Amino acid sequence: MCGIIGYVGESAAQSRLVAGLQKLEYRGYDSAGIALVDDALSVYKQVGLVGDLDLPADSPQTCGIGHTRWSTHGRPTDANAHPHTDCSGRVAVVHNGIVGNYDDLRAELPDHEFQSETDTEVVAHLIEVELEFTDDLVAAVSAAVERIEGSYALGVVAAGHDGIVVARRNSPLVVGHGSDGNFVASDVTPLLEHTREVSYLEDGDIAHVTREGVEVRHDGASVERAVHRIAWDPDAAEKGGYDHYMLKEIHEQPQALRQAIAGRIDAVEERVELDLSLSAAFLDSLDEIQLVACGTSYHACLYGKQLLESLADVRVTVEFGSEYAVGSGRDPERTLVVGVSQSGETADTLRALRTAKRTGIRTLGVTNTVGSTVARECDDALYIQAGPEIGVAATKTFASQVVTLALLAIDVADSRGELDPADGRELLSNLQALPGAVQTALDRDEEVREVADAYAGGDAFFFIGRQFATPVALEGALKLKEISYDHAEGFPAGELKHGPLALITEGTPVLAILTDGARPEETHNNVKEVQSRGAPVVAVTSETGREGDYEVGFDVPDLGVLEPLVANVYLQLFAYYVADGKARPIDRPRNLAKSVTVE
Ligand code: F6R
Repeated sequence: MCGIIGYVGESAAQSRLVAGLQKLEYRGYDSAGIALVDDALSVYKQVGLVGDLDLPADSPQTCGIGHTRWSTHGRPTDANAHPHTDCSGRVAVVHNGIVGNYDDLRAELPDHEFQSETDTEVVAHLIEVELEFTDDLVAAVSAAVERIEGSYALGVVAAGHDGIVVARRNSPLVVGHGSDGNFVASDVTPLLEHTREVSYLEDGDIAHVTREGVEVRHDGASVERAVHRIAWDPDAAEKGGYDHYMLKEIHEQPQALRQAIAGRIDAVEERVELDLSLSAAFLDSLDEIQLVACGTSYHACLYGKQLLESLADVRVTVEFGSEYAVGSGRDPERTLVVGVSQSGETADTLRALRTAKRTGIRTLGVTNTVGSTVARECDDALYIQAGPEIGVAATKTFASQVVTLALLAIDVADSRGELDPADGRELLSNLQALPGAVQTALDRDEEVREVADAYAGGDAFFFIGRQFATPVALEGALKLKEISYDHAEGFPAGELKHGPLALITEGTPVLAILTDGARPEETHNNVKEVQSRGAPVVAVTSETGREGDYEVGFDVPDLGVLEPLVANVYLQLFAYYVADGKARPIDRPRNLAKSVTVE
């Protein structure tokens, strides 16, 4: 949440900051701003999107910072937009995170004039105080952050000071090493067009980024942070002719799924190779695997649980990151916690993983983001290899997470000696066929648009499934509600009659998944129950020829328990076209942001 960018180099900073912020808008889009600095400081900021900023045609400065905001403390107003400045107008600060003790700090600065309601502004004033005693901006920022409680990724510039000072605690910051200057950013997306060489800052780091290089300090000592090369193609972070990133990313699923399994399946030996340090003895001794995640990733875990339990004969629990507690009766030595997070930066999931680690539990991070905090802090990292996902609504990464968990399930089952060869063979073959099957659903994009147009006026939308399709029903509802703002709920189909059925009317479209892995015969009975109350049913079935039993029917090829994953593609397209028909800002749904770095 909130995007930070900074540039110092040989070129004009303004256009680089603006382009960078536009790439970071998925992290927040309530307001935007930049600060440009040489001997003086110029700040431009306002409510709205980066493209709405009122900027000079041309600015000569070659150093600056920028911010796109997802509001926590203080409403989205011009005054609350970042960068924030001190009383003298010399210091500018951008911040991602929350300064927990900002009230106390503000009270300690009675002579300072505050312009905003934000927690961040206090940081600018703290630095102002320190600059009364030193000319060294790094020293001033170091002293200021000592007084801050909470989380921060900070970017600071000051008139007359060369370069940018950045600091991080529990909020991501990446340094980009470019050929005509150096960058800082919340994530790598805005850096890709300039450089693929990046370093990830650690919690507690304070870095001075100048034209010449980057100096990182930790606990007062100079430290080196390794330079990594990012494999992502810069074009992958562009819309590529689609109206929205979300639609592009839905259509990228076949490719993402191929990448997820690439090099990981030994077809001859019928085995999976994941390059993890989990020993066979440890896996064999496991009592329980705990999957922790939030939102869409949580739904992927619900799918993964069923794959793991059915193949590997191990108890699996799924917990929201924000609710996680180790639980009594757990033996840390015989428990594995798997944190699943596209961004690898979700604060709730990180909190859960840290709680587990403190208890001595081994952790595995399943993430899309190389160098993310989840990847770095877990004992092992398993990448879903989906490529950048910019749309706030997660789409391709859901499918890639499930596939990665399927590979993990086969690996764990094999290692524990529990893998039934026929089951393993079938799942491996279905995983390889999945990209093609997803493409068959994508090829019906236009038909889904017509169905979405026909049903977009529903008072509410229900999604039902069973077993492997239950997480997909929950995910289908989440997608629709977050981008269309329509009321949508997902249920295990059998639960309808225990309450939610009271809400069904002729105006409530029900989207039902009746594929393999979803006990379709039983779900069919639930479909009859809603049809007899007048609700129209959009069904996704296996290729059984039963599509005619429903108001609308789509089918999926034979893929066993992976069929609901293909059904999900129809639900994603349905959500997209309902929202598109209502002209919603699909890539930037209201109140939401990607990469939720606050608890
Ligand atoms: C919904 C969505 C969110 C994320 C959730 C976790 O479309 O994208 O629900 O899934 O915020 O994010 P990650 O996977 O980055 O931890």
